[in-house]
Amino acid sequence: MWIIANWKSNKTIAEALDWLAQAGPKIPKNPNLTVVVCPCFSALSEVKKAIIVGNFPLLVGAQDLSPFGMGAYTGEEPAQILRELITHAILGHSERRQNFGETDEIISQKAAQAKANNITPLICVQGTDILIPQDCELVAFEPISAIGTGNPDTPENANEVAKTLKEKNGQDIQVLYGGSVTADNVQSFLTQSFLSGVMIGKASLDVQEFIKICKKALENI
Ligand code: PGA
Repeated sequence: MWIIANWKSNKTIAEALDWLAQAGPKIPKNPNLTVVVCPCFSALSEVKKAIIVGNFPLLVGAQDLSPFGMGAYTGEEPAQILRELITHAILGHSERRQNFGETDEIISQKAAQAKANNITPLICVQGTDILIPQDCELVAFEPISAIGTGNPDTPENANEVAKTLKEKNGQDIQVLYGGSVTADNVQSFLTQSFLSGVMIGKASLDVQEFIKICKKALENI
């Protein structure tokens, strides 16, 4: 089961370290629960160090990466460097598609860079007709109407979408749900048979709420 914390453009390095100091010791250690925290690029290095020092059961992910390798691409973060810090990368989030004009083609290039560098891409799709790049087996269904609105999809619909995504892209893919997940509603998503976890934006910023979410996840393993 997956719990992904997507902090978006939030938390200074000091705030990130404070969150880790509180959450780290309380995240349940269980071989069937994988918790990935995705801070801003500028906090990745410190977050990674704090996790190693604290021996916390957390992995580190990025919220994006470059479609190119190393070279003359000013401002981009290449997978060849990020691989020292992260195991996962969120790709194709709707906020990037909307605000930065990301296309399926760019997302496929990014996924290829990630995979070539042993980083697992987490591809965000907003419906069943969005392209999932080849050999990408971790997918998050995030309906735009549910992101940051406090209006989550129904667990039953999210489950139906996950079922369809698996039928279209192969039963090996794991589908997560994202969009206004909280400690109060997380269980209703985690009990759906075709869902393998959740991706959490706003509720992951609040450390107590996030700890609650992880504990509830444990009850469903
Ligand atoms: P939210 O964001 O939990 O704040 O709705 C989810 C996401 O965008 O990944």
